[in-house]
Formats: sequence, C-alpha cells, structure tokens
Amino acid sequence: MNEQIILLDFGSQYTQVIARRIRECNVYSQILRFDTPAAEIARLKPKGIILSGGPSSVYAKDAPLPDKNIFDLGVPVLGICFGVQLFAQFLGGRVEKGLKREYGKGTLTVKDSSCALFHKLPKSLQVWNSHGDKLTKLPHGFKPVAVTENSEYAAIENRARKFFGLQFHPEVVHTPRGSEIISNFVHRICGCGKGWTMRSYLEQAVEEIRAQVGKEHVVLGLSGGVDSSVAAALLHKAIGAQLTCIFVNNGLLRAREAEVVQEVFGRHFKLKLQYENCSKQFLDKLKGVTDPERKRKIIGKTFIDVFQAATQRAGKAKFLAQGTLYPDVIESVPIAGNPAAMIKSHHNVGGLPKNMKFQLVEPLKCLFKDEVRLLGLELGLPKEIVYRQPFPGPGLAVRVLGEVTPARCQILRNADAIVVEEMKAAGLYYKIWQSFAVLLPVRSVGVMGDERTYDYTIAIRAVESQDGMTADWVKLPYDLLEKLASRIINEVKGVNRCVLDITSKPPGTIEWE
Ligand code: XMP
Repeated sequence: MNEQIILLDFGSQYTQVIARRIRECNVYSQILRFDTPAAEIARLKPKGIILSGGPSSVYAKDAPLPDKNIFDLGVPVLGICFGVQLFAQFLGGRVEKGLKREYGKGTLTVKDSSCALFHKLPKSLQVWNSHGDKLTKLPHGFKPVAVTENSEYAAIENRARKFFGLQFHPEVVHTPRGSEIISNFVHRICGCGKGWTMRSYLEQAVEEIRAQVGKEHVVLGLSGGVDSSVAAALLHKAIGAQLTCIFVNNGLLRAREAEVVQEVFGRHFKLKLQYENCSKQFLDKLKGVTDPERKRKIIGKTFIDVFQAATQRAGKAKFLAQGTLYPDVIESVPIAGNPAAMIKSHHNVGGLPKNMKFQLVEPLKCLFKDEVRLLGLELGLPKEIVYRQPFPGPGLAVRVLGEVTPARCQILRNADAIVVEEMKAAGLYYKIWQSFAVLLPVRSVGVMGDERTYDYTIAIRAVESQDGMTADWVKLPYDLLEKLASRIINEVKGVNRCVLDITSKPPGTIEWE
C-alpha cells in the first residue's frame, strides 16, 4: 500500500486542490467524507490526516463533524480553516464569529520559526484568507506560532501531539509559499517519502490490471481524448492483445482526428483497434434536426447503439474499461453552498446502459487530470494527445449551429483546422483551455474579387479556464486575429465573414450549441 495522507472533506471548494498539492509532493492522498469512521481511517494506515475547510460554522446545528476518535489515532493532524475550528470544538478551545470576515490577501508573520510547518520559510509570508469565524481561545496544549493582521492564532501547534492548525489556505495560488508548508507537513512532520510518482503508479497499475483481468478480454471505447487514450495505452501495456479498442467515427470529428488515432494506436502502439466508421448513420439521424438538446440526445443514443453492436463484433469480452478520473468518483459532501457538489453533475459523459453486462476496469480512477497527462507521457503518448484541449462528446454537432449536414460539418472542420494550426504556431494552443471555430447558421453578403458572395459566418472562440465551470475569453493578439480571419475567409469555401466571441462564462457557456 502507498504511504498516504487522508484528507477529510468538510465541503470546501478547495478540498481537491489540497489533495493535488499533496500529490505534487509525491505523496499519495485520498479524499474521504468528513464523517468516515476513525476505525476505517486507521485501516488505511495514513501517515497523517488533513481536515479541510468548509462553508459551515462548527457551532451550526447541522455542522459536519468528524468521528472524535480521529484525534486518538496517533498520527499528525493538520486542520485548515474550518479544520482549525474543529480542534477548538473537540479539544477545548473557543470559536466566535469574527467581527469582520477575513477574506483575501493577508500577511502572515511567523513568531516561532522552530515550528516544522515553516521550516526554511521566511518570517513574513503572503497568505490567502477566507473565513468568518475566528479562534478566540486556544484548545488545550496548543500555542500560537504565526499571526496575521486580523488573527493572533493564524497558525497554531500542539507539538507534542503533532497537531497543527492554519486559519489561512496554504493550497491556493494566492498563498505563494503554501506548497512548501504542505510539503513540510507531509515530509517533515508525517515522515512521508516521495514514493508517489507516475512511474511507480504505472508499475502498480499494470500489476493490478493483470490481477483483475486475468486471461479475460477487455473492450474500451477510445475517443481520442486524453482520458480514454491514456487508459488504452496503460491497458495495452498491461494486457496487450487481450485489449480491443473501439473507435467510433461519428462524422462529427475534427480534421485528421480519425487518422491521428489510427496512426498513434494502430500503427505506433500496435494495439487491436476496431475502427467503426458510422458517419453516415449519425448524420442521417441528424438530418433536419436543429434543436440542440435533440441533437445531443440523438447522438448519445446512436453512440450507445453502435458501441453495443461493436462490442459484440469485438468478441467475447468480460470487461469494459473506462477512463474515469478521481474527481468523478469522489463522493462530494452534500452541504449547502458546496460548489464541488455541483461541478460533478455537469456534462455527465459516456453513460452506457446498465444492461451492458460487463465488469468495469477503471485504471485511472484515483488520478487527477494532470496526473493522467503525466502518466500518458510516461507511456509514450505524443504531446498532441496528452495535452489536447477538451472536445465535447457530441463533437462538431454542438459547434455547427442549426442543422448538422455533411457540407456544413466540412466547412467548420476546415475553419477549425486553421484555428488549431495558427494557435499552435502562435504558441498559445497548449496554454489555454480551448480555442475553436463555430459555424453560425446565418449567411450574409460580401464581396470577393468582383463577385458578390452570400456565405456563412465563423465565430472564433478562445477561452481560459481551470475546469470549464467558469471561463474568460482570451485577448488574442490582433495580428493573430487578423491572420485567422484572413485565412479562414480566403481558404474556407462557404465562409465570407469572421467574428470573435468576447463572452465570458457565466453568463455565456463555452460551447455555443
Ligand atoms: P459549456 O459549453 O457548458 O462547456 O460551458 C463546458 C466544458 O464542457 C465541454 N462540453 C462537453 N464535454 N460532452 C463533453 O464531454 C459534452 O456534451 C459537452 N458539452 C460541453 C466544453 O467543451 C467545455 O470544455
């Protein structure tokens, strides 16, 4: 078993960020619900426990409280924000409503540099606060080690029991040295090594897949996206020819997408790739349909039908592999105001019917997206796949507004290829969340040479985002915009106008539909 830190989730929007920071220290971390029984935690033999922040007040009637026995497991505990107030609640301190809510940047002054959390850190640090309640009496055995303008107990410790508390958030980027504080906790205080790397994970995952699958066969729906691609490469390494990847061309793919997948997986990795060209089937079903929800439904249902038929052609497989990631399986804390709880329900992708009688293999289900990318590189996947931008399951159908016809898909595909090419040439493609073209269903008048034209408009969409939930439009350089517009209008037949989308999310969405 990996050395690990257990992170109890009290509903903070930053819980997953803490888990990622710990893993960036090469230490495995797992997020568990706040009320996980101490005995269950003990079985996992954690090297330390972190209590996350959360939107509640410890004194609220329905406050999420942990099993009190976690404080007797004999392992170091770090409470962050709400987590500190739990110390007060359980170990005899006091928390009161702060006179003013402390929110935003603050300066931390370390009073006791011998506290291991601040090892090798300067006496003055920029930190990020976000709390209303405030510790006003220290719990038994604790002493203050750092203060902010607003709080004399910004960092506290009980050195003998190895309990530590931080009122501020070390996990966010606005606490620039916060990762070092977390590293001090996991390495210096909990004594963790640096065993969690994607290389070691790869070896372990290969063993686990072999143990789970035995001599049976596995099918996997390969979309060409990061997750299914990494899952395919990993499974292939583990079980070779026992894996069949099914790639469905739904006629709604971007330029060269089907070719790249066949090149990389078929010719380079030499894995068993079952290529299903179902373009006609999808496009026939979409004929005459303009309503975005109906388009999605038709594509979703058709995918299930063709995938189901394809798995039967693939032969006798007992397992279905999926590229499920950790954020999809973390049980979010059902607390009012917990944004993490809402994030999960968004764009529930890849749902297959329950009657498909497969057992699941989900070899990425304890990884975060950035870890999946590192694993992909470790497996030898090209950057083009590992760092590709997100692409919606229903493909170009959500970007061809109005009716999806083969001709209109082709116009969009040609325009989109120019956007991708120029964004890459400008060194911007891999730096932002998404950049793509959208085909609008309106035509307008133009002149080209001596001729009057009556053609379509392409909108360019480029956004920055952390997770797709909120997004800002990217201020692309004017010369790049000029080049994009000029190339699209000159090179893509059927387009005579180009516009830039300057809507952020909210209130807009990233895709137009
Ligand atoms: P919206 O348009 O809702 O998109 O702001 C947020 C992010 O989700 C992607 N997206 C999808 N991904 N299936 C997916 O796998 C879908 O149906 C889908 N719709 C949108 C979108 O590209 C953006 O990154």
